[in-house]
Amino acid sequence: MQTAQVAEVSIGNRQRSDMTAEGDKLWGGRFVGGLDPVMERLNSSIDYDQRLSEVDIQGSMAYAKALEKTGILTKPELEKILNGLEKISEEWSKGLFVLNPNDEDIHTANERRLKELIGEVAGKLHTGRSRNDQVVTDLRMFMRNFYSVLSAHLLQLIRALVERAAVETDVIFPGYTHLQRAQPIRWSHFLLSHAVALLRDSDRLREIKKRINILPLGSGAVAGNPLSIDREFLRKELDFAHISLNSMDAVSERDFVVEFLFFASLVMTHLSKMAEDLIIYSTKEFGFVTLSDAYSTGSSLMPQKKNPDSLEIIRSKAGRVFGRCTSILMILKGLPNTYNKDLQEDKEAVFDVLDTLNAVLQVATGVISTLQIHKENMERALSPDMLATDLAYYLVRKGMPFRQAHMTSGKVVHLAESKGISLSLLTLEDMKSISPLFASDVSQVWDYVNSVEQYTAPGGTAKSSVNAQIEQLREMMESQKEPF
Ligand code: ARG
Repeated sequence: MQTAQVAEVSIGNRQRSDMTAEGDKLWGGRFVGGLDPVMERLNSSIDYDQRLSEVDIQGSMAYAKALEKTGILTKPELEKILNGLEKISEEWSKGLFVLNPNDEDIHTANERRLKELIGEVAGKLHTGRSRNDQVVTDLRMFMRNFYSVLSAHLLQLIRALVERAAVETDVIFPGYTHLQRAQPIRWSHFLLSHAVALLRDSDRLREIKKRINILPLGSGAVAGNPLSIDREFLRKELDFAHISLNSMDAVSERDFVVEFLFFASLVMTHLSKMAEDLIIYSTKEFGFVTLSDAYSTGSSLMPQKKNPDSLEIIRSKAGRVFGRCTSILMILKGLPNTYNKDLQEDKEAVFDVLDTLNAVLQVATGVISTLQIHKENMERALSPDMLATDLAYYLVRKGMPFRQAHMTSGKVVHLAESKGISLSLLTLEDMKSISPLFASDVSQVWDYVNSVEQYTAPGGTAKSSVNAQIEQLREMMESQKEPF
């Protein structure tokens, strides 16, 4: 048999030396043969789900208390279990918890250890509970705990963008469409465009938390809990906002995971887009920004190079996060109700995305708050052809319908091109030959500050509008800090 040749299988930093002995598993009663070591390794989640150790213990403590209320546990038994769990928690936090080759996942590991510490009474803890309601409770608690860290990092990045925008409102540079120079805009307007998108993400995170913060415990394996366990008591103990409505849904649904991964994917889309802008702006060709040394690296071969690695990594991590989101959707799409082992995959996706997002948000904040801008290069990149729209608006203000004004301005552009000169160097006579509406005040069009100052409607790039955006964003950030 092929498996017999697999004498040693290394699992993380541990070694498993043989097939598991019969009946060693917590679920081992009906099994007579051992588990193929490769299968054992594939099946095991302990290497990563030990991150749930703390929440798993909290969940077990609450459940033990609920069991005592039903009379399944006596007071002294409850005390024993709680003390044992306390001890296990201490072992985990001090790095002293010793894994055993049979520890398939965090739930079995903690229960096995409890039995070692307090004896057979440990076996009462799982009464009416299943790993199915246990694991999803743990995951929800873990994600909920992470929420405030993530939300704080996200708001910090938004704040860095907004506060930078507030100091640099006077800097004007090209706004692009199709990556072609389009219209002059304020640099602050650009920064705020990214802040606004991220603030929507922050809002989305708050929305998701509502649906994460629902307690599945007390749903059992599929049918519910047969001991009239007080789920409302469990909810209060574990500080959930609501209890789940249906046990089948509670143990099988991972829509809250998908929502989180989708939220993360959108954040990464926004960050990746911002990274791309800044990568382009940091090239010698553009020269608008220089990243600080803390967020750049050099080349091992070309001494002159300073590469925007931080931004490139942000851009690439977007792909990684989308992959996690897609993979979970693929895993979920064909599952029969209710729990299936496929669901074990959810945790690696959540952990990986949480860690990635956490790091990326901090790096993005660092990049934004330390990058240097080159005002002169930004201004030098502005060219009079970018004011062709303004020329059309000039005619509109003189009463010409916009379509005709657009056409007329286009003719002026063509004239300048055929003369090989910049738009602003055409004489008044040249312009009058195209439309009699042009007068000496047309010279005011050739001013970039005047240009951006036209856009006073809310959301535009005029200073008043940019300042209003800053104010509004500051208020919104404050309200998003509030707990709910
Ligand atoms: N490690 C498992 C998971 O992550 C725990 C639940 C196992 N449930 C079961 N019925 N085998 O999903």
